Amino acid sequence: MSKTAKVTVDGRSVDVPDNSNALEACRAAGVEVPHFCYHPGLSIVGQCRMCMVEIEGMPKIAASCTVPIRDGMVIKTDTEKAHAARNSTMEFLLINHPLDCPICDQAGECKLQDNAVTGGLPVSRTSEARRQYPGYERTDIGKHVIADMTRCIQCTRCIRFCEEITETGELSFIERGGHTIVWTHEGRALDNELSGCAADVCPVGALTTKEFRFRKRAWWLDKTRSVCTGCEVGCNIAVEHKDRVVHRFIPRVNADVNDFWICDFGRFRSEELNEQELFRPVVRGKETSWGDAQDAIKAAVDAAQKDVLVLGSAKLSTETNWLAAQLFGKHLGANVEFVVDRGDRHRVKNKKADGNVAGWLEGYEAAPNSRGAEAAGVTRGGDTGALAAVLTGTLLPKVIIVLDAAFSAKAEDPAVIAALRKAGTLIVCSRRRSALAAAADVLLPVGGVHNDEGTFVNVQGRVQRFDCAYIPPPIVRTQLEILTHLGKKWGLFDTRWTARSVFEEMRATVPGYAGLDWDSPALVGSAPSASPAAPHDVLEAPAKGGLGLPALQEVGS
Ligand code: FES
Repeated sequence: MSKTAKVTVDGRSVDVPDNSNALEACRAAGVEVPHFCYHPGLSIVGQCRMCMVEIEGMPKIAASCTVPIRDGMVIKTDTEKAHAARNSTMEFLLINHPLDCPICDQAGECKLQDNAVTGGLPVSRTSEARRQYPGYERTDIGKHVIADMTRCIQCTRCIRFCEEITETGELSFIERGGHTIVWTHEGRALDNELSGCAADVCPVGALTTKEFRFRKRAWWLDKTRSVCTGCEVGCNIAVEHKDRVVHRFIPRVNADVNDFWICDFGRFRSEELNEQELFRPVVRGKETSWGDAQDAIKAAVDAAQKDVLVLGSAKLSTETNWLAAQLFGKHLGANVEFVVDRGDRHRVKNKKADGNVAGWLEGYEAAPNSRGAEAAGVTRGGDTGALAAVLTGTLLPKVIIVLDAAFSAKAEDPAVIAALRKAGTLIVCSRRRSALAAAADVLLPVGGVHNDEGTFVNVQGRVQRFDCAYIPPPIVRTQLEILTHLGKKWGLFDTRWTARSVFEEMRATVPGYAGLDWDSPALVGSAPSASPAAPHDVLEAPAKGGLGLPALQEVGS
C-alpha cells in the first residue's frame, strides 16, 4: 500500500502519496504552479525552470517538479522570490518566441500563452527581432506532424516521449547554444505508431498534427467522452466536435488502459465519423417512412418463421447487441451471430501494476466490443457459424438482417454480398453507400458511434461507457432506436428506452455487468482535458445521464 505524506502548500495542508514531487503536491492542494517540461507520463528533467517555488529549509528557490516531497514539507508558491524567478523564465522564453498566437494553431491550448496571460509581465522589455530558424519552420517531419522551431521552448517533452514511451528515439537536440533546435535524426522521419502524441505533449505550437492544423480553434470545440473503436484495446478518447462535425480525437487519461496516449491508427479515424451518406429508409428501391420500413421488416420476419439470420456487430454497443439477442434470438428464435476480423496489431502503453513501469496493451481484433456482444448473448461466429454456412451455400435463411453494414471487411467482398443477397429479404443498416447497401431489400439509415451512447468491453474485460456527441441527423436513427421500435412491433420493447435503461436491465443477466453503475467513474473514465498538452487539466464536465425514463419492462420469451 502506498504511503502518504502531509505537506503544506501556501498554508493549505494536504496528504499526498509519498512518491510525489512538490509540483504534484501543489496540484493536489489546488494550487496551480506554472510549468512546461513536467508531464505526468514522462520522466522529470527540470528543464524549463518555470515551476519555481520556495520550500522551507531550502536555501534557494527550487524547481518544484524536481523536489521529492517529505512529510512536513512547507511549500510557498506565492512569494516575491518565486514570482520573480517565474517571471524571469517567462521573459527569457518570450524574448525569442514569435508573437504569432493569432496564426498559431496551438492558441487556446498553449501553456506558454496561458502562463503569459495569467502570470507574465504586462509589457515586453525587448524590441529586437525574434530569432529565426530558416529551413526549420512549418516543416513536415513525419507522416502526421509539422514542426515549427520558431515556437519551440526546448522543454524536451517530445524527445522524452519518443525515448520513453515509443522507444523509437526519432527526436533529439541538434546544434548548440542559441541555435539549439529539436529535430529528427538525419534522414529519419518522426514515424512511430503513437506519433500524434508527440504533438499532444508539445506545450506550445512547435509540433502540430497535419490532420487538425487550422481546422478549428480549440476553444470552439465541444468535447464528448468516448472510447476508440479502432481495435479491442478501447483507448479512452474525447471526440472533439462542433456544429455536428467531428474535428479530432484526443486521449483521455486512464492509467489502466491507455494512460495519456492513443495510437495514430485510432486517432486519425475521426474523419470517418463525418461520412453520413444515407438519410432515409429505402424499401425495394423506393424511399419510404420508418413506419413502412418497420412494417416490411415485421412482415418478412413473421413470414420467415424463425428462418432468420441476424448479424450483430462487435462494433456496436453491448446494449444494442443485447436488444438484438433478446428480440430476434430469445423471442423470435432466429440465429443471432457476429463475426469479428483479426486485424493488425494496435497497441498503446499504460502503467503496470507498480504505477511506474510502462507496458504495452495490445489489441488484434478490428472492433472494440466482441466481448460485449458475446456477453449480451450474440453468438461468436467462426468457420462453423451461420454466416460461414451462408457463404458456403449450406444455409439459406429466408431473411438476413445486417445490423451494421461495416461489421467486417467481408461486407465489401462481392462474393459475400452475393451470398447474402440470396436471402429472400436482405435488411441492412448502413451510414454509407456501399455495394452491400445497394443490394439490400430494406435499407435503414443509421448514425455512427458518436450519435449513440452505450458500453464496450475491452481486451482486458473492462466495461467502458461512451457518450453521445450529438444526435443523428433528422430521420436517421441509431441501431438501438431501430431495435426498440422494432421490438415494439412485437409488443416487447418500449420506444422510450435509452442505452442507460437497457444497461440497467442487462445487469441482471449479462456476465460482467452485475453491480455496475452507469455513472460510476470506473465506467465513465476521466473528463476530457482542457488541452492535450495538459492531460491532467480536466474540464469539469457534468456526467451525462439518461433522460429519467421509466424502467425497462419485462422482456417476453
Ligand atoms: Fe519544473 Fe520544467 S516544469 S522545471
